[in-house]
Amino acid sequence: MNILLTGGTGYIGSHTAVVLSQLGHRVVLLDNLSNSNAQVVDQLRRITGLDMPLVHGDVRDTPVVQHTLEKFDIQAVVHFAGLKAVGESVQKPVEYFSNNVQGTLSVLQAMQAHGVNTLVFSSSATVYGEPQFLPLTESHPTGATNPYGRSKLHVEEILADLARSDPKWKIACLRYFNPVGAHASGLIGENPNGIPNNLMPFIAQVAWGQRTELQVFGNDYATPDGTGVRDYIHVMDLAQGHAAAIDYLKQHPGCHPINLGTGQGYSVLEMVRAFERASGQAVPYRVTPRRPGDVAACYANPQKAHELLNWQAQLSLDDMCTSTWHFQQSLGRLESP
Ligand code: NAD
Ligand code: UD1
Repeated sequence: MNILLTGGTGYIGSHTAVVLSQLGHRVVLLDNLSNSNAQVVDQLRRITGLDMPLVHGDVRDTPVVQHTLEKFDIQAVVHFAGLKAVGESVQKPVEYFSNNVQGTLSVLQAMQAHGVNTLVFSSSATVYGEPQFLPLTESHPTGATNPYGRSKLHVEEILADLARSDPKWKIACLRYFNPVGAHASGLIGENPNGIPNNLMPFIAQVAWGQRTELQVFGNDYATPDGTGVRDYIHVMDLAQGHAAAIDYLKQHPGCHPINLGTGQGYSVLEMVRAFERASGQAVPYRVTPRRPGDVAACYANPQKAHELLNWQAQLSLDDMCTSTWHFQQSLGRLESP
């Protein structure tokens, strides 16, 4: 199929581009490069041996999206483009609703105009709000505690209404848990600007010596070692999940919310120890107060993805840490003078 990846030069988009193109799909990337770099296209060429066209544009620019759909005869869209920092969303709600909600509406308008009705949307486990039970199933009540989460929820609701309005629509809302890791080549990975908000890139920078210590946000949660527990999933497994969703949608109209997680939770201290093992480096840490808005534990019931998509995460915690470390080393060498 000819597949458009909005936000395709970003972290999850670039890994999905590798998987889809290696499965024989023709991949086109559209990105405004607000949180990524056009050089990713060169890295994708080195990994896959293929040239993937990059349209430098904003998803809110409907004519650009429509022109891209027409020019490349696109049959399905994977919509990654959006902003994703929870703290920033509290400071800049308008930007979040504009990029995430208005951006999605613009993509939908372009798809409607061009008769493309297969869409995979990047949703998040954040749509479950504070977990009322674990593991989280897709029928867990939804809620939002910040504008980022609310933007994902708004989009999911819009997509459900859209699918109800016309049975031609085939939509998967993939609710990602905590994506980590990198492609085994070390050529692409997560490279956040400034101080990382998320645990894994922070640990990698401490191991690399770029930061002196990790702050562990609270060790008094009701978890086995008192630190927060999350469902970390390798980004290459996540990428495979997108390919499986596109296949599934061929025969299954409607709007399908689906968890992409491993079902296994790890604590912050377990992550630190796993990274130390994988990298052979020490990761010094200090326990600090809880981060506002954090929950004790969050992990998926991945059964629905298994049943519908025949997909299951394959890669281990060690794979997640080793590939992150490999990417951190390549990045560190590039950035060193
Ligand atoms: P990312 O920032 O690496 O990738 C997003 C890409 O979208 C970037 O390349 C950015 O330049 C682009 N972009 C942003 N706004 C745009 C716009 N208006 N027009 C065109 N391009 C635009 O983030 P990611 O981690 O790859 O996340 C991809 C998607 O998955 C996002 O929608 C995010 O909310 C969602 N998600 C991510 C995580 C995670 O932990 N990474 C978890 C759950 C959900
Ligand atoms: C965060 C977002 C979530 C988003 C997800 C994407 C918040 C509140 N939630 O989830 O909406 O979908 O990223 O990956 O930002 N931790 C530390 N020290 C650090 C960083 C994190 O101890 O420097 C702990 C956290 O308290 C948490 C765990 O590590 O227990 C994971 O944190 P993080 O990687 O930020 O992910 P989430 O908070 O699960």
